[in-house]
Amino acid sequence: MKQTIGIAGLAVMGENLVLNMASKGYSVSVYNRTSSKTEKFVNGRGKNDKIHGFTEIKDFVDSLERPRRIMMMLKAGNPVDQFIEQLLPFLEAGDLIIDGGNSNYHDTNRRLAMLRERGLLYIGTGVSGGEEGALKGPSIMPGGSAEAWPLVKDIFTATSAQLEDGSSCCAWMGPEGAGHFVKMVHNGIEYGDMQLICEAYQFMKDVLGMDHSAIHDTFANWQQGDLNSYLIEITAEITSHKDEDGAPLLDKILDAAGQKGTGKWTVNAALDSGVPLSLISESVFARCLSSNTELRTLAADTFHIPTPAFDGNVQHMLDHLGTALYCAKIISYTQGFGLLQAASQEFNWGLDFASIARIWRGGCIIRSVFLDHIAEAYQGDKYPANMLLAPYFTDTLQKGHASLREVLATGVKAGIPLPCHSASLAYFDGLRTKRLPANLLQAQRDYFGAHMYERTDRPRGEWFHTNWTGTGGDTTSTAYSK
Ligand code: 6PG
Repeated sequence: MKQTIGIAGLAVMGENLVLNMASKGYSVSVYNRTSSKTEKFVNGRGKNDKIHGFTEIKDFVDSLERPRRIMMMLKAGNPVDQFIEQLLPFLEAGDLIIDGGNSNYHDTNRRLAMLRERGLLYIGTGVSGGEEGALKGPSIMPGGSAEAWPLVKDIFTATSAQLEDGSSCCAWMGPEGAGHFVKMVHNGIEYGDMQLICEAYQFMKDVLGMDHSAIHDTFANWQQGDLNSYLIEITAEITSHKDEDGAPLLDKILDAAGQKGTGKWTVNAALDSGVPLSLISESVFARCLSSNTELRTLAADTFHIPTPAFDGNVQHMLDHLGTALYCAKIISYTQGFGLLQAASQEFNWGLDFASIARIWRGGCIIRSVFLDHIAEAYQGDKYPANMLLAPYFTDTLQKGHASLREVLATGVKAGIPLPCHSASLAYFDGLRTKRLPANLLQAQRDYFGAHMYERTDRPRGEWFHTNWTGTGGDTTSTAYSK
């Protein structure tokens, strides 16, 4: 009797995904490089007649029904390439390898092309939701060999988070590395969401002088409204969590943020595609700045700039803060979906943005009620040129931008860093400005480098050069953009 799917890699995500699949009735073969881990699992948490452990790769592969489905839940990077190499001698044409880790989409493109040459199928899939998501239902974002989708559709659909309307948080994303690209953007958005929440927390603490209990109450209150999301929910819990001595644990946690790289990849992809992704970029840099605690301590001791006491109405300011956070979040998703739109066009992936918003509604780290509005904005064939131009978002920003300004003005005066909120407003104001100062920028480029400019009184695409000093020649530089 052969098993339905094989899972290689029994770290946190792998183990929990195996248990999840087995609980849905699928028989699973498991393999881990360190075989004692496999034995411990199948004799412990994984003791179940649906779960079968193997210590040799050949036996693991042989245990699977054909075409074989082998899902790797490994650390991204070299371990994935190495495991694929180890698998290859035992696979046959038509077999499918799935990478469920946080791999870079460039690697997924490369692996897919290499395996296609050998007649093998490949899927790179995002799996979001952390430990609990993997066990109870993550959001799953597969992409790669289109022929492979029917081979995993049922398993992935059954294993993913289920929404109240009966739909599941899994959908086919597209060819090549589309699945991992979408997961990467999910993580970039996650970085932005987290930093925005952290800025609101600092504003409450350092501008409004609120204590943990009042901060907790505010997040708990926001959780009842438009901001309802997993990240706000856990933030409310974190802000009320006490250490063993009864003091707030949050005060004892070092303010040095870690990161594993998916936020940086998202920013790199945006730079490559020439898409403004300023909010997520700021969230990555905010982590970088935070991690250098020694330097910040030195600077804090060097500059003596007092924080003026807040003398306004705290409740009014909290209302502004909630609205500002929501508006900034909308702008972050606008930029994130702008990147998805650009990638879809550039790589010809045919991404379905409404479907992406829907499968992020449950299971994943950025799950939130507000994603329904995004699904609505991208419903049908005609997308808005920019998410902010969809009626719901236009209306919300029209009403809410004043709160964003209020919070930023107050925060700036108080000397509180609000990089992501600031980036959101700068983008919004830039987007809605008919005439930006880029006319001057083009003139500067033409002045010092003969880079040429277009004119407002001539059609686009006609290029002009001015001999600004009277001493330059007629030779112009070539134009290229992005
Ligand atoms: C998820 C998360 C996960 C990510 C962690 C840590 O969707 O379940 O995005 O994939 O690895 O959140 O990321 P950082 O260490 O970069 O913060």
